[in-house]
Amino acid sequence: MISVRNLSVNYGNEIALKNIGLDIPKNKTCAIIGPSGCGKTTLLYTMAGLLAPSDGKILINGEERTSIRKETGVILQNTGLLPWKTAWDNVSLGLEARKLNKNEINRKVASALEELGIGEHKNKFPAQLSGGQKQRVAIARALVLEPDLLLMDEASSALDAINREHIQNLILKLYKKNPITMVTVTHSIEEAVFLGQEIVVMKRASIKHIIDNPYFGDKDIRYRQDYYNMCLEVRKWLDGEEEE
Ligand SMILES: Nc1ncnc2c1ncn2[C@@H]1O[C@H](COP(=O)(O)OP(=O)(O)O)[C@@H](O)[C@H]1O
Ligand SMILES: [Mg+2]
Repeated sequence: MISVRNLSVNYGNEIALKNIGLDIPKNKTCAIIGPSGCGKTTLLYTMAGLLAPSDGKILINGEERTSIRKETGVILQNTGLLPWKTAWDNVSLGLEARKLNKNEINRKVASALEELGIGEHKNKFPAQLSGGQKQRVAIARALVLEPDLLLMDEASSALDAINREHIQNLILKLYKKNPITMVTVTHSIEEAVFLGQEIVVMKRASIKHIIDNPYFGDKDIRYRQDYYNMCLEVRKWLDGEEEE
């Protein structure tokens, strides 16, 4: 699905990504974890087509990415909801842009809000919603467009621990119901192990290690010792000494 080939991204003189290589198979999930400033957001934005490579390329389904793709859903770090629009209007925006007919839009928006458990809040503005509810609206807004690739940047990091787990559970539930390729950027080890079949550990501007996570997909994984062992494995790579 996604092939990142010799990717470098610079901001002026600053090297944000240097010679990255990564493959994410179709309908698999990938969690990208690393310290602040290592280039996670830059990598996700480049996958989304919001940033252009300085060198190398990103292929999606074998096709080189040079701009935004209509089948890619993106959830940005700050949810990106429009403050002057209600939950309903935020979710319907993309469908209106695609010129679907009114009945179809109403049906899809209602069903997305219902699925995310926020139907009763449809007439509220973002400022009237809790952090978790806002995040649900952002997820509904992405999923209502039926993407085949979902890119999420710190989707739960603004939330308290309990709400963070609720959102993670919800994302896993939605994924299991309708598997699509999913990339989650996070700085949380627990989230990476919960949401990533493949866990990419980054260090400054590059990939340090890729871990295969066989425990992904078990909704009760948090009760299992294996989960904590996997968290320790990720932590070891995050904290480890620089090798070169
Ligand atoms: N718009 C920008 N202009 C200049 N430098 C940037 C910009 N965005 C990010 N950077 C720099 O690129 C590096 C990677 O940033 P980012 O991808 O946001 O990291 P992360 O998401 O892992 O915290 C950082 O050193 C950051 O300061
Ligand atoms: Mg970031």
